[in-house]
Amino acid sequence: MSHSSEPRPMTSRRGDPLNGVAHVPGDKSISHRALILGALSVGETRITGLLEGQDVLDTAKAMAAFGAQVERLGPGEWSVHGVGVGGFSEPGSVIDCGNSGTGVRLIMGAMATTPITAVFSGDASLSRRPMARITTPLSQFGAQITAREGDRLPITIQGAADPVPLHYRTPVASAQIKSAILLAGLNAPGETVVIEAEPTRDHSERMLAGFGAEIRTEVTDEGNVITLVGRPELRAQPVAVPRDPSSAAFPVVAALIVPGSTIRVPGVSRNPTRDGLYVTLLEMGADISFENAREEGGEPVADLVVRHGPLKGVAVPPERAASMIDEFPILSVIAAFAEGKTVMNGVAELRVKESDRIDAMARGLRANGVTVEETRDSMTVHGMEKVPGGGMAATCLDHRIAMSFLVLGLATEDPVMVDDGSPITTSFPDFLPLMQGLGATMDV
Ligand code: S3P
Repeated sequence: MSHSSEPRPMTSRRGDPLNGVAHVPGDKSISHRALILGALSVGETRITGLLEGQDVLDTAKAMAAFGAQVERLGPGEWSVHGVGVGGFSEPGSVIDCGNSGTGVRLIMGAMATTPITAVFSGDASLSRRPMARITTPLSQFGAQITAREGDRLPITIQGAADPVPLHYRTPVASAQIKSAILLAGLNAPGETVVIEAEPTRDHSERMLAGFGAEIRTEVTDEGNVITLVGRPELRAQPVAVPRDPSSAAFPVVAALIVPGSTIRVPGVSRNPTRDGLYVTLLEMGADISFENAREEGGEPVADLVVRHGPLKGVAVPPERAASMIDEFPILSVIAAFAEGKTVMNGVAELRVKESDRIDAMARGLRANGVTVEETRDSMTVHGMEKVPGGGMAATCLDHRIAMSFLVLGLATEDPVMVDDGSPITTSFPDFLPLMQGLGATMDV
């Protein structure tokens, strides 16, 4: 499972300015993909900078269950000896993906066109999340799929013995849907095509090309059209995982709201499909500079230098949502300290993440004295000069909700408590020591 079943209440409070260097963990999306593509390649894939959060560890375990040889060589350094496209063997037990939507959805795609059977499960949060968005296209490849009521986990997939390639338009902007289809398309003959109206993170496309697949993206009037030629021989590659911009968001926002702070966050991915929060922060007037822009592991990266300063509320355009989909919880925190209101439209997908993030943020912010309005697909946060705090937030098995409220408490008048910080280990195992190292007053 993703974390211990014992709740871990945590508190954060106002203190000194934050200072120093924050080495945030490896990118979660890229870490999952490196393990999965390594397992589908021929030869040894060496991965450095892998995120060793529970979500990714569950994916590593799953790849071993499907027959890959997966070994940890040192901190963040892993070796995967793959079995090749179509080479997965039938796992001997249930594949438990813990808390990870990315893990389960991508792995279901990766096995759905191989004639083996696998059963997938997850924790209480993952078992509530919608899976029809994945099982519908995978069935069209020819896989036989049985799910619990409402297309939820546990799910059994009997992979297609004779898969047909797919031509599919994604119904919502989701890199997980796109990636599941591309991974399934690897073992289908001919061309698999995914059309997405709004561009989503493109790590799968970049990495598939890096591993030798023939894949191209055309930008058309109907959106991005991604075409993958099936049955390639994927060649094992070294993968250097850049640092996660979604994890960097927590110390970055903390430095922006705690007076007197200056921090440096080196080696953060600046992939344009992940950059929406940083674009928004700059529009809010945030003092962030991007130094030493360079390329690492096929991704653009930079060192961020962040300084506290005044902020103003903004309206985030809905077409930016996909490029910052995981960052709305922390944006709603910084919005509480900005002058005026911050409006987030077109964010209905937040309701089906690790928790209903609109509901979780609205409740927790209100408990800490912040005015929030919500609709089915929007959230508006009213900024204030002094944010009271003093409330308890329910984290709802959601790492990003937990970290967001702990950052909030660093600048509120009174401390902020979260009922359970244990989900943080899914994506940012060293969050607490890293924040404490910057000078934050945060404890269990
Ligand atoms: C991810 C895609 C996003 C994001 C998730 C990671 C990925 O989900 O929320 O944390 O690695 O592909 P959706 O694609 O469902 O929006």
